[in-house]
Amino acid sequence: MERPRRLRHTPAMRALVRETRLSADQLIAPLFVSEAAEPVAVTSMPGVTQWPLGHIADQAAAIARQGLAGVLLFGLPKLKDARGSGAWAADGVIQKATRAIKARVPELTIITDLCLCEYTDHGHCGLVNTGPERDLRLPDGYLLNDASVELLARTAVTQAEAGADVIAPSAMLDGMVAGIRRALDGGRFEHVPILSYSAKFASGFYGPFREAAGGAPKFGDRATHQMDPANAWEAQREHALDVAEGADMLMVKPALAYLDVIRRTKDKFPDRPLVAYNVSGEYAMIKAAAERGWLDERRVVLETLTAMRRAGADLIITYHATDAATWLRETS
Ligand code: PBG
Repeated sequence: MERPRRLRHTPAMRALVRETRLSADQLIAPLFVSEAAEPVAVTSMPGVTQWPLGHIADQAAAIARQGLAGVLLFGLPKLKDARGSGAWAADGVIQKATRAIKARVPELTIITDLCLCEYTDHGHCGLVNTGPERDLRLPDGYLLNDASVELLARTAVTQAEAGADVIAPSAMLDGMVAGIRRALDGGRFEHVPILSYSAKFASGFYGPFREAAGGAPKFGDRATHQMDPANAWEAQREHALDVAEGADMLMVKPALAYLDVIRRTKDKFPDRPLVAYNVSGEYAMIKAAAERGWLDERRVVLETLTAMRRAGADLIITYHATDAATWLRETS
């Protein structure tokens, strides 16, 4: 008789036949760096803090000690404007943070998020069609594509100049990866890879992040550039375009409600490292339930991250990264 239980009766036997491995070196920790003087706790994401520039190298060093794969940096500038000029300033918050981390822990991989939404006063990911000179053929408030790509490309070069190891554009604009690749190559950064947020859905699960990064749109939404949550085939088209434009790594975001998209992506692009972004809302749900004693946090976090790996993710960006690294060390 077939008895699958034969391979389950001891912990060691279960470990022997485990198909999916999860380890700290597959996890990337997001870090929020601000130009404020003091650390600020993010209420909707217990355990997540906006760190002042003066603290950021210490935080990065702690992450490096945990054996994590790297950090993903988000910047919170003091001043915002219509064009998001703080994003490409040579002494912008993310450029300063990158330099500080590189000086302290040069071996840690720094991935810089590349978008304008934290830097524009209207909270959109680039230039918007508004004001007296607006293009009347497009809706009021429409996110302008090619002009915004130029600003992203300019920002990518300043991030690379500061020492970013990987540039991660998250704006979901058409031709974004090609524009950034061209600018990086032109600036003699042909060795700097691009991790594209290639399939990013217009998701309600980004809610807590918008408090963490201060990048909520003041009007409208992101539905004309981020993807419709109903579309898994279109995600494959987005990945294919980004691969053709020069993306070195692909991403599916969010992760938990999109495990099927992760699987399809890995099957179609097995030769590209695939990153899943376990986003703020997914984190907040587990934290809230755990606080009430409704879920076992450690168990559910490790189960969730394992599921993302099982679905096909090579790497996971997660706010649970340092906790998970600690738990994985204890269990192994
Ligand atoms: C945009 C950006 C967002 C997130 C990462 N980069 C927000 C958005 O697109 O609205 C969301 C991350 C999360 O929810 O954890 N720069």
